[in-house]
Amino acid sequence: MYTIDLNGKTGLVTGVVNKYSISLHIARKLHEAGMGLYYTYANQSLKERVEEVVTELDPLGLFECDVQNEDMVKGVFREISGKTDPLHALVHSVAFAPREELGGNFVNTTRQGFLTALEISSYSLISLTRHAAPLMKDGGSIMAMTYIASQVVIPGYNVMAIAKSALESIIRYLAYDLGKNRIRVNGISAGPVNTLSARGIKGFTKMLEYYPQKAPLGRNITANEVGDAALFLLSPMSTAITGEVIFVDAGYHIVGM
Ligand SMILES: NC(=O)c1ccc[n+]([C@@H]2O[C@H](COP(=O)([O-])OP(=O)(O)OC[C@H]3O[C@@H](n4cnc5c(N)ncnc54)[C@H](O)[C@@H]3O)[C@@H](O)[C@H]2O)c1
Repeated sequence: MYTIDLNGKTGLVTGVVNKYSISLHIARKLHEAGMGLYYTYANQSLKERVEEVVTELDPLGLFECDVQNEDMVKGVFREISGKTDPLHALVHSVAFAPREELGGNFVNTTRQGFLTALEISSYSLISLTRHAAPLMKDGGSIMAMTYIASQVVIPGYNVMAIAKSALESIIRYLAYDLGKNRIRVNGISAGPVNTLSARGIKGFTKMLEYYPQKAPLGRNITANEVGDAALFLLSPMSTAITGEVIFVDAGYHIVGM
């Protein structure tokens, strides 16, 4: 049997907020494979909650990191470089849009809502990667979470769909840029998973009901299955894959009607 052994490897996981977070399920798989992990949380008020859920995974460290704050992003990697050198993996699992932008008529998307959604959900991958890359001296693997609304209209997803389109393009540009440093950048396009962020999208419950009717596998996916695919992308099992977006959606994306 081939086992994925990530002992001696180190990664940083963003986006854990509670036990439902997709990033926590990714972290669990990486931890099981032996990778040592640092975590970030968005703001001080979340610190205890995040600490509580990641304790079982023996964190190497926890840092506050609001991705809108460049100094904070820089600071996290400065801290890590003092403790760990090199870094091997980065998990981007962060997204936000003001609630009022996630529903209603897309044409009413506000300028501020647009800027906020793209800064937090898309630009952050560029900035996190810029600071992570110099630490990835043995090469590395970076992955980000995306959704099919980047390619087709999913009613209610609105400005977040635009943020995901940008994110997927950013994945390709970063992969192109950093290939020479043996750093790979990929995405996972997941089917709906019941998390805190997902519940903010109007009609999310309907999505969960609709997927099993249309997806070839006839069911929804689990966050654990996203974790397995992420483990693959962040391990030596995928060394020739970069700039790719892998669907973990029970096949939903291949069906036209
Ligand atoms: N749940 C789904 O159905 C689904 C499907 C496809 C893709 N995704 C993507 O998966 C990723 C993780 O989302 P999730 O569903 O696990 O929800 P989640 O609510 O558990 O995670 C979202 C995270 O983003 C963080 N965040 C928001 N603003 C931030 C900021 N300014 N700085 C730093 N962090 C910030 C939150 O604190 C939270 O930890 C997101 O990119 C989401 O779009 C989710």
